[in-house]
Amino acid sequence: MALRYDFLNMMRNRVGAEGVSPEEVQAIAGWLEASRRALADRKKTGELGFFDVPKRRPNREAMRKLLRALDPSIETLVVIGIGGSLLGAQAVHEALQGLETLRRGERALKLVFAGDATDPRAVRDVVERVDWKRAAINVISKSGDTIEPMAIFSLLRHELIRAVGHEKAMKRIIATTDAKKGTLQAIAAREGYATLPIPGNVGGRFSVFTEVGAFPLLAAGINVDELWKGAAAEDAAFWKTAPLKSVPMLYAALQWLLYRRGKTISVFMPYAKRLTLVGQWYRQLWAESLGKKTDRKKKPVDIGPTPVAAVGPADQHSQIQLYNEGPFDKSVTFIEIDDFDIDARLPDSWPDIEGVSYFSGHTLRKLVHAERQATAEALTDNRRPNGTLHLPDLSGRSLGALLQSLMIATAMAGELFDVNAFDQPGVEAGKKHMSRLLGRKTR
Ligand code: PA5
Repeated sequence: MALRYDFLNMMRNRVGAEGVSPEEVQAIAGWLEASRRALADRKKTGELGFFDVPKRRPNREAMRKLLRALDPSIETLVVIGIGGSLLGAQAVHEALQGLETLRRGERALKLVFAGDATDPRAVRDVVERVDWKRAAINVISKSGDTIEPMAIFSLLRHELIRAVGHEKAMKRIIATTDAKKGTLQAIAAREGYATLPIPGNVGGRFSVFTEVGAFPLLAAGINVDELWKGAAAEDAAFWKTAPLKSVPMLYAALQWLLYRRGKTISVFMPYAKRLTLVGQWYRQLWAESLGKKTDRKKKPVDIGPTPVAAVGPADQHSQIQLYNEGPFDKSVTFIEIDDFDIDARLPDSWPDIEGVSYFSGHTLRKLVHAERQATAEALTDNRRPNGTLHLPDLSGRSLGALLQSLMIATAMAGELFDVNAFDQPGVEAGKKHMSRLLGRKTR
């Protein structure tokens, strides 16, 4: 199995009463099994689509064809979206850029992300970074009328038209949106853009492996097949593994048990700088799915864990002070890459100076592993529950497995917290206010 979960430092024999007992974990096994069955039923009726996406490898050839059809002079793809329509591609791109690439000779465009910032300076930065004569746009919005991406799209579409003329510009825009409805779909039909469909039964934050994430990643030359393979393997494992041996099920169970013990804050801390945005992606997934005012029977509950994104070792010299000594309201999950494909040995630069000579000869791999382990040990000494998700390496397959596993864990956690993990009325509420403030008549 691609992922390994070390949760021993979450248990009572390591962190005392702040942790979870083996009996509590055993007691939840039947509920986990029932929750998985409930999810299986909803998958069967077609309500929940995200599980099967990596296995189906959606529209792979159509996406390739679209890329081949783009004018050969194009060097940059401006990817416009927000939230679940942007973060997945951004996170995978940051993690795998230059590592998990397609065959030599395949086209690789530079990606510039936009739509998640509306302040004039950020937008001007995008306008100025892009050579619009050599650019195309991929605008992504499932609903098709989210104000941020649509407003920024209207502005950047204008830049493209100014640079290459209206006719050519229309051939350089690809809209990823709901297949049948929505404002973006209507605009695409009127202006003749190429379109890619977002499956109706896959919500934004669960859509990284659909056309939403896959198209920009393919455009950047990232081997999406490897991501899909890793994710599909993790998904297959989920359906057949015993609950207390399944990484996503245990992850959800421990998070739930710890939440009940007052650990309402869940820190996600990769020890790999390239996974920084995976932390942001996860933060959205966990928060938007599980933070709810009512349970599934509409009873008020005001429930949900607060995810915090950190990154090691940088945050060892920042937030860790609070995690080690502040209120007992947190659990920490580290992400460790077991085997980086490269390494470097620290030179013996100052052999006669004790304060620095002790690390000479050690490798960077050893350094980063020691940092993660040291932080885990210090937290454990201070009775702070912590666990580690181990990835074998920093590859498409491992990352695919991690993301799918976290999405499955979120769906499982939705069952345990008894909330609808697939809606976001709190986000919609803000969208409504914004429409009103800007003078929209209907919403
Ligand atoms: O996960 C979600 O549902 C949200 O984060 C959406 O992705 C986000 O609000 C953008 O929505 P849309 O794709 O409709 O523009």
